[in-house]
Amino acid sequence: MDSQAIDRLASAHPRMRALDQAFYTEPEIYRRDIERIFMRSWLYAGHLSEIPNVGDWMLFNLERESVIVVRAAKDRVQALVNVCRHRGSRICLLPRGRGKLLTCPYHGWSYDLDGRLRSAAHMGEDFDPSELSLKRIACEVLEGLIFVNFAARPAAFEPVRAALSECLAPYRLDGARVAHRQVYPMAANWKLAVENYTECYHCAPAHPEYSRGHILAHPDLKTSEMYGEMFERAPACGMSDAQVNRIYRDATGFGADFLYERYPLIRGHLTGSQDGQPVAPLLGDISDYYGGATDFQVGPVTFALAYCDYVVVYAFRPSGIGRSECDITWLVNGNARAGEDYDVEQLTWLWDVTTEADKRIIENNARGVGSRFYEPGPLSGIETYTWKFLQWYLEAVGADG
Ligand code: FES
Ligand SMILES: [Fe+2]
Repeated sequence: MDSQAIDRLASAHPRMRALDQAFYTEPEIYRRDIERIFMRSWLYAGHLSEIPNVGDWMLFNLERESVIVVRAAKDRVQALVNVCRHRGSRICLLPRGRGKLLTCPYHGWSYDLDGRLRSAAHMGEDFDPSELSLKRIACEVLEGLIFVNFAARPAAFEPVRAALSECLAPYRLDGARVAHRQVYPMAANWKLAVENYTECYHCAPAHPEYSRGHILAHPDLKTSEMYGEMFERAPACGMSDAQVNRIYRDATGFGADFLYERYPLIRGHLTGSQDGQPVAPLLGDISDYYGGATDFQVGPVTFALAYCDYVVVYAFRPSGIGRSECDITWLVNGNARAGEDYDVEQLTWLWDVTTEADKRIIENNARGVGSRFYEPGPLSGIETYTWKFLQWYLEAVGADG
């Protein structure tokens, strides 16, 4: 498909309608997805507690790119491109590790934790290592959550920080710990996964476990009283009252979206768990369960759901035109001990069964949109958030994106 045909397809797209097949299957569109979206957006790379000591690092891999996210100093995290400045080998090969230096396994060039080349054998007299530091990409830490951006001039992160720091403060996520992190591979284009995440039209049929406690699965429920009670109770439990919503076309810069919105849980449910009862100690400064849960979002493809006792972070990324990954992190109070204060299986139960179900429906969706008979259908009013995403997407990959 040539470039103008893609532009035309994007600009002619009707309102509130599913995407044309080409957006899921055309290699040239996929290339635009990577260049225009993933190389320019703020992306979740991990949590500070995964690299607690100076010299600890973990890899953030996206498609063909690999980044070493390293604790360079007590209060400094760097995102170094995992490509050796000699002949381009990957330097770190394991998902995580620790050391004073990052040493390339090919010919042994060694870099310090800020990426400066420290030693390279047999390179002669006039060799200048100062020119050969590892490349770096932008990296920001928001309440312990590490975000990276591949763009040379990324959209400012400050508006995201300004809007979310106060909302997130009571959770003390900078002091939280990762209780579990799991990648769910999906045989589907990344957009099918994001489309699915951004609507709850499918929740009632697909997620009986989730639907028990979450009002979003029940669009017909009369909720104004529940909202009122929740908002009244939240401040007494130490929660911030603020709600913010600047996503997709309303973002303050491309790929720098943010959202923090609260909704009540169904009566009797304190958190997202098998029976609605707590599965971990309260987070941070939260003093009690306020009867709700909070969605938050950073950038276009990182979503989180914050309960009072744990937070799940959902990060989506492509791993090929018809493949994607959903990388889920469960965060709990930093003082909580596994096996004593929480049980990993209980903690992860709801979002594991829910994600396994999502994986099934997303993969079924991918099979269907691959058919020669597929035709994009109309979206429901319950899929407005999905349409917001799609509209933004179409602008990003279209002529002026
Ligand atoms: S490619 Fe890394 S030392 Fe040669
Ligand atoms: Fe779902």
